[in-house]
Amino acid sequence: MSSFVSWVPTPLEHIDPFFELAPVSSSDVVYDLGSGDGRLLFAALEKGAGRAVGVELNPDHAKTASGKAIEKGLQGKVTFLQADVMDVNLSEATLVFCYLITAASVALKPKFEAELKPGTRVVMESFPVPGWKPVETKTREYKTFYLYRMPPEPGGAETVASEYPDAGYYDYLGY
Ligand SMILES: C[S@@+](CC[C@H](N)C(=O)[O-])C[C@H]1O[C@@H](n2cnc3c(N)ncnc32)[C@H](O)[C@@H]1O
Repeated sequence: MSSFVSWVPTPLEHIDPFFELAPVSSSDVVYDLGSGDGRLLFAALEKGAGRAVGVELNPDHAKTASGKAIEKGLQGKVTFLQADVMDVNLSEATLVFCYLITAASVALKPKFEAELKPGTRVVMESFPVPGWKPVETKTREYKTFYLYRMPPEPGGAETVASEYPDAGYYDYLGY
């Protein structure tokens, strides 16, 4: 699998909705699929998550995030893997964050269903998992965040591409 989308960081004012939907505790292992500069995971650790793993295809971003972890003295708490999200086993995660694109939500759905333990929470920024009913949603400005809990209830939109902005969404944001 190649890159789903280039780096479009979650604005700082859009980080809180992740934690409003999915509060963290020391027992949480948080994954960010396409972790960019690691901002969601550093926020998760600041809020008390036990451990965090970032998966990032772009070696420069993975290196930047690893450097930040060292600067913050968090090497033992967070790992940034330079890898494709489709190639990393997610079974140890208790909470998964994902801000990619509709094609990624479609591709990750069977992987989530096969690998994530019952009770694991998934928060998707802007691009919901087709055919899963969210437990809760939050909206900030132009953006919606979707919380799911494994195993998810069926529901939600089956065909999301026409209903949800995709490439046009990033054009809209100016990327
Ligand atoms: C929209 S940005 C989100 C970054 C970060 N999660 C945040 O919210 O600030 C998506 C990130 O996913 C990475 N990415 C895209 N496709 C990927 C793939 N197949 N595997 C791993 N990372 C990927 C991009 O390089 C980029 O850094």
